[in-house]
Amino acid sequence: MKVATQIVHAGRGKRWAGYSVNVPVVRASTIVFDTMAEMKHATRHRGEHVPFYGRRGTQTHFAFSEAICELEGGAGCALYPCGAAAISGALLAFLRQGDHLLMVDGAYEPTRALCDKVLAALGIETTYYDPMIGAEIASLIRPNTRVIYLESPCSLSMEVQDVPAITAIARARDIITILDNTWASPILCKPFELGVDVSIQAATKYICGHSDVMLGTASANAKHWPQLREHSYLLGYCASADDVYLAARGLRTLGVRLAQHQRNVEPIVQWLLQQPEVEAVLHPALPNHPGHVAFKRDFSGGNGLFSFVLKTGDANTVQAFVEGMHHFKMGFSWGGYESLVIANTDMQALRSATTWPYAGPLLRLHIGLEDPEDLIKDLAAAFNRIRELK
Ligand SMILES: Cc1ncc(COP(=O)(O)O)c(C=O)c1O
Repeated sequence: MKVATQIVHAGRGKRWAGYSVNVPVVRASTIVFDTMAEMKHATRHRGEHVPFYGRRGTQTHFAFSEAICELEGGAGCALYPCGAAAISGALLAFLRQGDHLLMVDGAYEPTRALCDKVLAALGIETTYYDPMIGAEIASLIRPNTRVIYLESPCSLSMEVQDVPAITAIARARDIITILDNTWASPILCKPFELGVDVSIQAATKYICGHSDVMLGTASANAKHWPQLREHSYLLGYCASADDVYLAARGLRTLGVRLAQHQRNVEPIVQWLLQQPEVEAVLHPALPNHPGHVAFKRDFSGGNGLFSFVLKTGDANTVQAFVEGMHHFKMGFSWGGYESLVIANTDMQALRSATTWPYAGPLLRLHIGLEDPEDLIKDLAAAFNRIRELK
């Protein structure tokens, strides 16, 4: 089946949907049984999509988990109340006191903070590594290294990692690899084909696609699924049926949305490259981008999220740029149908293993589904505002 067809069909079997097109919202805490035998059966098979108790999910959850597995390729998929919970749930499922974690230096900032504040207090030590390290990761591995965590492309800085090089080293040493695959969504990169053990999605972003739901997923291969499932369950992670329903609904248009986001990005990247104030456009599809070769090899396409860096500027420059925009709203998150902008004037503060190579402020854009001509007009006005500052 081609991806577009898979997106339509995934997780929509009669078993869950019954006679309706969409799997309905089934809210439940208590699941009731008529006989001891039924209850025993549910208890024994509670990890296998047999209704048992609301925290383990209902058909709404089971169908969505199956859809993510069908698209992303995992053996099982646990659901979480947000992407950050999927990250903590996956890390806590596999790390113990005394373990060592290798964390990519360009990780989403709250992932770093989780390592520095929560995991450190549990006696788990983190070493940050250069996103471009590739097979050189071997030199950082210690006898107690238990997990290598990847995020590709990295948050804000957008480097694309050599995932297969890292997973090959990890496999040979029985180290678990966890990838934040949110940028790719479940369709632009197939993490399990690249040797990853656990793949995380902040479904809040492109899967939901409408900026109105918080949801996370963590999928694992057959070897690691039982532990991920049980530990996440014991830590109490679960998601609301209503949110899962909305995510499943968003999923059906993921392919067409991503294709349009990517189409809209292209003229905007070209336009930005021509602006004299722009030092660099950080987009994996550009030939000089760090990890471009891995991007061409491992991804089937792009989306609407990338960054660019100004040659010079400070907080005033950023303020002049972002205040007064009509289409690009300032706000956290991304992956909805609308355009967003966010700025960072101190990228070095988010890194410890590598030196950030640029002096000027970074702006991250999410290019929505508006007409790119209108978005370029908005950006042109923002550039004019910073020109007037001089
Ligand atoms: C790459 C990435 N991973 C994880 C998350 C966390 O997702 P959530 O906001 O659903 O907790 C985000 C949120 O911005 C993100 O950008």
